[in-house]
Amino acid sequence: MDNVGTIEFAASTVPKSFNRWLSLRAATSSSHESLDALVMRMRPFESIARYGLFLQCQYQFHGLLRALYHRPELTVFLPDLAERDRFELIEQDLADLGLSAPELADPSDIITSDTPTALGWLYVVEGSNLGAAFLIKEARKLGLSESHGARHLAGHPDGRGKHWRSFTDSLNDIDLPPADEARVISGAIAAFETMRAIVLSRVDS
Ligand code: HEM
Repeated sequence: MDNVGTIEFAASTVPKSFNRWLSLRAATSSSHESLDALVMRMRPFESIARYGLFLQCQYQFHGLLRALYHRPELTVFLPDLAERDRFELIEQDLADLGLSAPELADPSDIITSDTPTALGWLYVVEGSNLGAAFLIKEARKLGLSESHGARHLAGHPDGRGKHWRSFTDSLNDIDLPPADEARVISGAIAAFETMRAIVLSRVDS
């Protein structure tokens, strides 16, 4: 993607030789790159109508995942998890634009996923808030803002980078048996694939 300032993040302060965040980032960088290109193929900032298509994708992705944000065993590792859920902001964005909410897929697999897989999914949906720094700039050109139509793209009041770092630090702190790391990665890849399928269903409409 062009013309985007890179947000710099120090590696986790946790003195560990294994950095789960960087491992996830490396394992999913090509998934991210192709999803980014696919979203842009949707031309989401060409008009409000096209932005609405993107918003409906976000609704379906976050709507599927929101159960993860309220799972007590994950809150033990990530205490501010519930307040990170952006689904209601997406609902308000749709309402701002007078758009209907599309149907949501059955979240059973997400609800019953094991902890390592769930962490991989969460990495993707949380990380997507970094790209939102770029997306909101584009949304502003359509007259949208943090208080109208693009609420879910807003940064956290503490700062987008700081908020993300607190997530990746917590993610790095979680002790998992080494054999579970592959499930964290496959959860993240599944999350990218899910969003990819959602976007593909609308990209050429
Ligand atoms: C056109 C759409 C998108 C653009 C332009 C975009 C752009 C970006 C940018 C600029 C970053 C920050 C890179 C950095 O500063 O280090 C980022 C991070 C990230 N994005 Fe996206 N993104 C897009 C869509 C998405 C979507 C739809 C998802 C997930 C469903 C996603 C998941 C992530 C993740 C997980 C990260 C964190 C990577 C890390 O570990 O540092 N992005 N994105």
